[in-house]
Amino acid sequence: MSVNVHVNSPNVRYTDTHIVAQYSYSSTSVNTDGNKVTVTPHSTEMTFRTERRVPQLGVMLVGWGGNNGTTVTAAVLANKLGLTWRTKTGVKKANYYGSFLQASTVCVGSGLEGEVNVPFRDLLPMVHPNDIIFDGWDVSAMDLGSAMERAQVLDWSLQEQLRPHMSRMKPRRSIYVPEFIAANQESRADNVLTGTLAEQVEQIRADIRDFRQSSGVDKVIVMWTANTERFCDIVTGVHDTAKNLLAAIQAGAEVSPSTLFAVASILEGCAYINGSPQNTFVPGAIELAVQKGVFIGGDDFKSGQTKIKSVLVDFLVSAGIKPTAIVSYNHLGNNDGKNLSAPQQFRSKEISKSNVVDDMVQSNPILYQSGEKPDHCVVIKYVPYVGDSKRAMDEYTSEIMMGGINTIAMHNTCEDSLLASPIILDLVILTELCQRVTVRPQGEEDFQSFHSVLALLSFLCKAPLVPSGTPVINAFFRQRACIENTMRACLGLPPQNHMVLEHKLQ
Ligand code: NAI
Repeated sequence: MSVNVHVNSPNVRYTDTHIVAQYSYSSTSVNTDGNKVTVTPHSTEMTFRTERRVPQLGVMLVGWGGNNGTTVTAAVLANKLGLTWRTKTGVKKANYYGSFLQASTVCVGSGLEGEVNVPFRDLLPMVHPNDIIFDGWDVSAMDLGSAMERAQVLDWSLQEQLRPHMSRMKPRRSIYVPEFIAANQESRADNVLTGTLAEQVEQIRADIRDFRQSSGVDKVIVMWTANTERFCDIVTGVHDTAKNLLAAIQAGAEVSPSTLFAVASILEGCAYINGSPQNTFVPGAIELAVQKGVFIGGDDFKSGQTKIKSVLVDFLVSAGIKPTAIVSYNHLGNNDGKNLSAPQQFRSKEISKSNVVDDMVQSNPILYQSGEKPDHCVVIKYVPYVGDSKRAMDEYTSEIMMGGINTIAMHNTCEDSLLASPIILDLVILTELCQRVTVRPQGEEDFQSFHSVLALLSFLCKAPLVPSGTPVINAFFRQRACIENTMRACLGLPPQNHMVLEHKLQ
């Protein structure tokens, strides 16, 4: 199903090249003085301009031969080829379930036949995942066909159909600094670059140029979906500014591989997304992205347990119920789990998973005193037998009326990479769309892009990276509404307000 959304309004112009929309952005300024809260509404007129031509997109994955890398590549291929395969429960057909852009809808209003919901992907011109060309790097030399088998994610009869195509894809040699990932990954690392750090960064840049040229894509986006690294200590004079970071790379100082990839991508003008929890975006990398006007986004795909947390805690706190203890266990048996069984790499994940309820807790001073938080504990264990089929068990204990206690326990079993793959697609497609949107506030001459730190991606990330000093939103539906309403603004449509007043008056 695909629809053509056309906005019929004097505020919206469709030119050959752009959709140009006049938009009135309504917000408020608030003054608090003790118990007195004064709210002043105001509106700013803006012009949103969206380029209509959808480019051919190339995506380079760091960790291409891993579970996520092989699964997303195989899933796109299976969709492109329209593959079906037999399992013990019947014939399955390739789809994009789990991608909010490809498989969820947006209500654009009511027609004669009731509410009209259109696919999210049809709101604005966007890259279709079937048209993405993949490439990438891995420290493991295994071709993608064998790596898909190693991942043990897709049904065997689907793998058999895909293998001839997948086997032709080979990851490029990558930057390997053993101290950053778990020691148990060493046996995998047989496809690594040598030379100084600066030479290796130059090679990654050359790889990006080579891919762009040989594949003929118009744009490249680079994403880290390689193993979780340990946190990098931020050292003044090394990681703190763009200039120092570039000099540190020349000098061979301690810079993580994920940061080296970020620097290489930014220098090539390619957006860079971090799908893992580590602190790739050290201040110098952020400054470099801002200087070069390149988008960066992250951190850590929000795929399962944390996604539910960002729904459930939002529900509880906004219903006036007070979560007091949130305890989350995971066990998984894939290579990600093996890497996370090392304490320093687990610590990166623990930090990433820990702050996810903060904004919701802080939003409700009736339930929580200043600085008060629920107890929040995250445990991850490596259990090889369960493979990619991760188990997540959560217990949410809350205080309800009159000293009552409410406990919600849940058990979630699911193929981790089949949750992460559609998120990978949403991240790159949304980033690419944002590269074609510019905004001009009234009275200003020039159109401007979104900030280089692309906070709009928060919906898809466990630990959203936002521009310094701006609020971090984790609450799931607030994040989704932000994307939906920004896209509606590009079409000159007011934000979705859910009032449905036309059905509520006499
Ligand atoms: P995986 O272990 O199967 O794949 C990672 C790949 O990265 C491996 O093939 C490994 O050889 C490669 N690698 C390691 N260091 C590298 C380097 N320096 N350069 C190039 N390649 C390198 O892991 P999986 O399941 O694909 O997950 C990937 C990342 O995504 C992990 O950090 C994980 O924590 C993160 N993630 C995964 C989620 C999921 O649901 N699958 C959710 C959130 C985050």
